[in-house]
Amino acid sequence: MSRNPMIVRTVPALRRAIEGFRRKGAVVALVPTMGALHDGHLSLVRVAKRRADKVIVSIFVNPTQFAPTEDLGSYPRTWKADVTRLADEKADIIWHPDAKIMYPDGFATRIVTEGPATVGLEDRFRPHFFGGVATVVGKLFAQVRPDFAVFGEKDFQQLRVVTRMAADLDLGVKLISSKTIRERDGLAMSSRNVYLSGEERRIAPELHRAMKESARLLRAGTEIGAAMAAGAEIIKAAGFALDYFELRNAETLAPITSLKDEPLRILVAARLGKTRLIDNIAV
Ligand code: PAJ
Repeated sequence: MSRNPMIVRTVPALRRAIEGFRRKGAVVALVPTMGALHDGHLSLVRVAKRRADKVIVSIFVNPTQFAPTEDLGSYPRTWKADVTRLADEKADIIWHPDAKIMYPDGFATRIVTEGPATVGLEDRFRPHFFGGVATVVGKLFAQVRPDFAVFGEKDFQQLRVVTRMAADLDLGVKLISSKTIRERDGLAMSSRNVYLSGEERRIAPELHRAMKESARLLRAGTEIGAAMAAGAEIIKAAGFALDYFELRNAETLAPITSLKDEPLRILVAARLGKTRLIDNIAV
């Protein structure tokens, strides 16, 4: 039997609970999520458990990172199943504020992100996105004041943006990255995969296959343009509308001109019907 995590919905209650942990000398880790938890999220919780005595998982579907045209209203919400899964993982606290707690009337401050947030990947298609992510993650760090926070490589540009933000604002949180968990056929796990129809779900792993093919060609010495064009072609032939398919430096996310600009990362975003999928791999 697993003990249920404490469910906390107000900032003072959160502060009290965490002060209790701190008095006992506990190392505290935070795993920020928007819920609809899958094995990718749970892998982050396990990484956090290895590093820290107490693990706080936040579940908050953050309105400021969605554009009015995006899926805030229909974003999957699976609260009961999430609580059960976090109990099984022995998470200590589920931090579950509502939008009025996070953004009370009169809220008027936003973190402006530059550097990795303006390299022309997600920011080109979701211009509002990283400001919303940085603002909510900044608030979560201020509320929880964790020693560690764990983020997935699945959202690779987000990982770089929040790492930069925590360092730039001296937030005293060490960011840990964790590898992407995939379905058996290669599709990266995502809360949004439930949007895929049966036919789209069958096609979706082509995204991973395309990245692997470009990575293979690059390693075999194929010229960058040709290697990347081959992957992009697989994606378009499978029926996706491609937003980007790019080779970047994994640290700076800057475009690369030579294979010597290591470490290299392929990053992709593509739409299948109404569902937008993102993924990335190391070369
Ligand atoms: P969400 O999409 O719920 O993801 C929460 C965390 O889980 C992120 O760090 C993400 O990179 C990680 N994750 C998602 N799918 C993964 C997979 N297949 N394998 C490993 N990790 C995976 O990202 C967000 O929420 C939000 O933007 C948030 C940071 C919570 C701010 O609102």
